[in-house]
Amino acid sequence: VFAQLKDASRGHLRVAVATTANSFASHLLAAFSRLYPNAVLSLDVTNRTSLIRQLRNNETDMVIMGKPPAELELVGEPFMDNPLVVIAAPGHPLATGDRRLRLNAITDERFVMRETGSGTRAAMQRFLTEHGLEITIGMEMTSNEALKQAVAAGLGLGVTSRHTLQPELQAGQLVVLDVAHFPIVRQWFVVHRQGKRLSPIAQAFRQFVIAEAGNVWPAVAAGG
Ligand code: PGA
Repeated sequence: VFAQLKDASRGHLRVAVATTANSFASHLLAAFSRLYPNAVLSLDVTNRTSLIRQLRNNETDMVIMGKPPAELELVGEPFMDNPLVVIAAPGHPLATGDRRLRLNAITDERFVMRETGSGTRAAMQRFLTEHGLEITIGMEMTSNEALKQAVAAGLGLGVTSRHTLQPELQAGQLVVLDVAHFPIVRQWFVVHRQGKRLSPIAQAFRQFVIAEAGNVWPAVAAGG
């Protein structure tokens, strides 16, 4: 099916992805551009709120994000799980035991969190509300890289997608805490505006993500 679309694929494709999806989205785009070397791809990496604005203003062809908002007329297809986990520096007191932590063991800690407007932040907020809990946010960061560095430096616990963590886990700079009710399992969606006339390259990209994300990304995440 991808080969059939090949001739029609000299176009320009604008893709916007959630900050948190960037780690795998660049691998997906690389694999896609090997199939369609004549296409010009532009990638914008931004948070959930900004992705919703781009969809509303018709500024992008295809978006990779968490669950699309119901209030906009969008077509969204889930293609991969997005597990949110609690991270800590390896020397953190909660990182040393091997027993599963109860939820209220972490709510006494300070957190480094993403900014308001981040889908990860919103999901954690919903999770806490559902459990009738609150956390203390000591610091906010607009970038997952900065957030991971702050947590590794001992500034608090963090919550982020397992998908952003492979290098730090491998290097022993961060650990994932085993906490009751975690991971919070969300999903990644490929999304576009309902009624938008998709170019052949945009259609090809959408199909590629749905069919191939599960193959391209786990291999990379596992270090393969
Ligand atoms: P974000 O992404 O936390 O980087 O905004 C996740 C999402 O879109 O839900």
